[in-house]
Amino acid sequence: MHKVFVSRKLPGPALQQLAERVELQCWPENSPPSPQALQQAVSDCDGLLCTLNDKIDQDLLDAAPKLRVVSSCSVGVDHVDIAALNARGIPLGYTPHVLTEATADLAFALLLCAARRLNEGDRFTRNGGWAAQRGWDPELLLGRDLHGATLGLLGLGPIGQAMARRAQGFGIRVIGWNRSTRQVTGVENHSFEEVIAQSDFLSLHLALCADTRHIINAKTLQQMPDHAILINSARGALIDEQALISALRKQQIAAAALDVFEHEPITPEHPLLALPNAIIAPHLGSATRGTRVAMAQLAVDNLLAGLEGLTMPQCVNPQATNGQQS
Ligand code: GLV
Repeated sequence: MHKVFVSRKLPGPALQQLAERVELQCWPENSPPSPQALQQAVSDCDGLLCTLNDKIDQDLLDAAPKLRVVSSCSVGVDHVDIAALNARGIPLGYTPHVLTEATADLAFALLLCAARRLNEGDRFTRNGGWAAQRGWDPELLLGRDLHGATLGLLGLGPIGQAMARRAQGFGIRVIGWNRSTRQVTGVENHSFEEVIAQSDFLSLHLALCADTRHIINAKTLQQMPDHAILINSARGALIDEQALISALRKQQIAAAALDVFEHEPITPEHPLLALPNAIIAPHLGSATRGTRVAMAQLAVDNLLAGLEGLTMPQCVNPQATNGQQS
């Protein structure tokens, strides 16, 4: 029987199904294993089902000489050294598509929350600010109209496209830029610089890699309109966080609504949390029960297919096995 380590409990029936097919060990805690604990846990395993918390690098692979399959319960795979997996012929499973709509919902929720200043209104009410006034205030917390505004999308993959569909329903003009040219219905293609300069709302939907790290930086923040709202539900390191903090402090842009951060989790002392024009969520993009159950199922299906030498339903690097998979 194959030995498998799962680095986190996952919702739904998939892990139970996996337990019936393999010798399964599951990390029991509510925080991810340390790199050392993970290395120890996989030392005699054939398969690993991990999350985006787990760094899958050369050190881990050296500690796991029998490892034949890695399956990540995530669409992003920037936590994985894919070249190192390729060198060992290890296929990597991931979970695209099943989380597209939930993640776009969250990105659009961030946009709405920032545009209509719901976080500020919530704080104002809780802190007694509203009670201190005598009633409705015609100038209280005025936000931005969505209809007629321009949403810029950096990244036009499935989640960017789902964001575009939502925006179109609200009467928003959608413009976009993708690293490789992509025509998307209802989205006007523009250069990167034009998208940065023309967007009232700018939403990031790019994978994190060497080319996209800090794609939003001091220079790009300067090129954004001063009323612009930046939304990030993709990966924190797409943004130079220090530059963003400085831009928000100077009100160089109006607000940022962020679900992801350069180093997660952030602590209560993080400077972003002191800024009234930052909206913060704890990496909730795909966090609906239905979506997480589907992600767990796909991650298990990928793992089992890989262990059986079959083509994974969703494989990042099918070439890694040099055609050994059928
Ligand atoms: C979440 O961030 C994912 O990559 O699935």
